Amino acid sequence: MRSMEKITDVEEIIRLLNEDFAHEIENTMIYVRNSFIIKPCDPSRVTESISVDEMRHMWWLADLIVKQGGKPSMEHSELEFGGDDLRSQLERQIELETEAIERYKQHIELIDDTEVVGVLKHILDEEKRHRKEFRMRLAQLDE
Ligand SMILES: [Fe+2]
Ligand SMILES: [Fe+2]
Repeated sequence: MRSMEKITDVEEIIRLLNEDFAHEIENTMIYVRNSFIIKPCDPSRVTESISVDEMRHMWWLADLIVKQGGKPSMEHSELEFGGDDLRSQLERQIELETEAIERYKQHIELIDDTEVVGVLKHILDEEKRHRKEFRMRLAQLDE
């Protein structure tokens, strides 16, 4: 059963990729900032290393956007860091990963372009791993 019309329009694909790109900018900046605020070494280093993954996602998306004839949009929303407390920061970071996972799943369903979908699936796998890493650090706070 095909319940959904796949998107083949290039402008529309560029728009969706730019939406993903803007969120990657936000996550990169939020994690860079939080990695310096978080005091305990392990969650701080994990957040730092995941910020690098998010920036790599920016590059992959920018590459797809330019190949499709678009330009990466640098517009992003106001940054919400999750406060200065480790627990609330980890909760916010888990929330950001969940939003990313849902958005990538949706875009993978919608877009009809093998190369684009391949890259989005790779990013989706990494976002799932990020959420697992942050969830582990949150669970360790209760030990
Ligand atoms: Fe990402
Ligand atoms: Fe992520």
